Amino acid sequence: MMKQKLFLFSGALSLLFIVFAASCKPEPQPPDVKGDLEDIPYDPQPYELQIPQGFPPMDIPADNPMTVEGIELGRFLFYDSLLSLDYTVSCASCHLQAGGFTDNKPVSNGVMGLQGTRSAMAVMNVGFVTAGLFWDGRAATLEDQALQPVENPVEMANTWEVVEERLRQHPDYPAMFRKAFGISDSKEITRDLVVKAIAQFERTMITANSKFDRKFLYNDPTVEFTDSEYRGFEMFFDFPGSALPDAQCFHCHNAPLFGNNDFFNNGIEEVSTLNDFPDLGRGEVSGKTFDNGKFRAPTLRNLVFTAPYMHDGRFATLEEVIDQYSDHIHFADNLDENLSYPLNLSESQKQDLLNFLYTLTDSSIILDERFSNPF
Ligand code: HEC
Ligand code: HEC
Repeated sequence: MMKQKLFLFSGALSLLFIVFAASCKPEPQPPDVKGDLEDIPYDPQPYELQIPQGFPPMDIPADNPMTVEGIELGRFLFYDSLLSLDYTVSCASCHLQAGGFTDNKPVSNGVMGLQGTRSAMAVMNVGFVTAGLFWDGRAATLEDQALQPVENPVEMANTWEVVEERLRQHPDYPAMFRKAFGISDSKEITRDLVVKAIAQFERTMITANSKFDRKFLYNDPTVEFTDSEYRGFEMFFDFPGSALPDAQCFHCHNAPLFGNNDFFNNGIEEVSTLNDFPDLGRGEVSGKTFDNGKFRAPTLRNLVFTAPYMHDGRFATLEEVIDQYSDHIHFADNLDENLSYPLNLSESQKQDLLNFLYTLTDSSIILDERFSNPF
């Protein structure tokens, strides 16, 4: 009896303690450890993303709403070589605005000139990619993607701990993080916020102002296609009833993005079995042999700026790419069926296709100051 009472009493006491502790909770910061950024106003301006006519909606993660301040911070971080071990490489070193946000090299150079095995991808319209970022789709979101280059040994070769410390000690960044994310102390700068800001900036990097867009998305009556461009257009989209060959391109590079949220073997590699691809691509991620040698079909927008082409930059020119699709497709068990017979395009048909590809050029993206180096 006595024991039971005691038990009840101590139970009530601990309950009291819990209630007391809970009531203390809304006081996380005793006044003597006030954050070093608290006096800076936090008043973020929501950013209204303009999705071009005819484009799909963009998925914005609920925990990373876009703000003017977040995008601005992301732009600075994208161009800052502080992210790399020896302060020599920024995201923009491999994703240059003048190169349509690629580096015009077959494979990129990281710190100390180290080289990877894949060609830098064009960071344009990346907010619309839903199959995963990278040639093999291994990063689910732009936030996940941006985590990787910093610690990649042949890219920035750094650690996130070092980057976080550099940013916390920086004369300008702590205030920018405060304005973008409302943190109250420099110590709250984390990799999570860095990649959120970069992703916000990347979601604004939209290109949709090519001749093709003006004619077919915005119906601008002043834009005319030449006969050659129009023939290329017919072949690219397999116009029904057209006397021209069906080039099949649109199956994997469809308007308006001219890329595809799926992975294909487009027949560039000669292999005896599915295990012989020098780069397994999607197969490395999915673990399925049938995915070996498959890559995401990239956008064909702004190709004039983004040479060389394919995941390993093997083709220096678009003429070589078109010759490849027309005459040199390599068979494999997982070759996409749309490419399973030779196109045998004539020289003038190849030129028509090329001229159509040039209508996908939007020069404004490489001049747009919102995307230029802020330093
Ligand atoms: C050393 C060169 C290099 C640096 C530095 C670099 N990248 Fe890349 N980037 C690449 C390469 C190469 C790929 C393709 C890699 C692959 O598929 O495995 C790529 C792919 C991407 C993609 C995927 C695009 C798509 O369509 O899937 C994005 C986005 C991107 N980079 C953004 C960044 C950001 C942000 C940074 C800085 C934090 C950065 N990159 C730093 C070379 C670089
Ligand atoms: C079965 C799907 C498929 C079809 C059909 C297809 N492609 Fe591709 N395309 C791809 C894939 C996948 C890649 C990337 C392959 C790689 O890097 O290894 C690619 C890459 C490209 C590239 C290089 C882009 C870059 O940034 O490196 C160009 C240019 C291109 N294709 C043009 C065309 C044209 C023109 C046609 C029609 C003649 C066409 N494609 C038909 C799937 C396809």
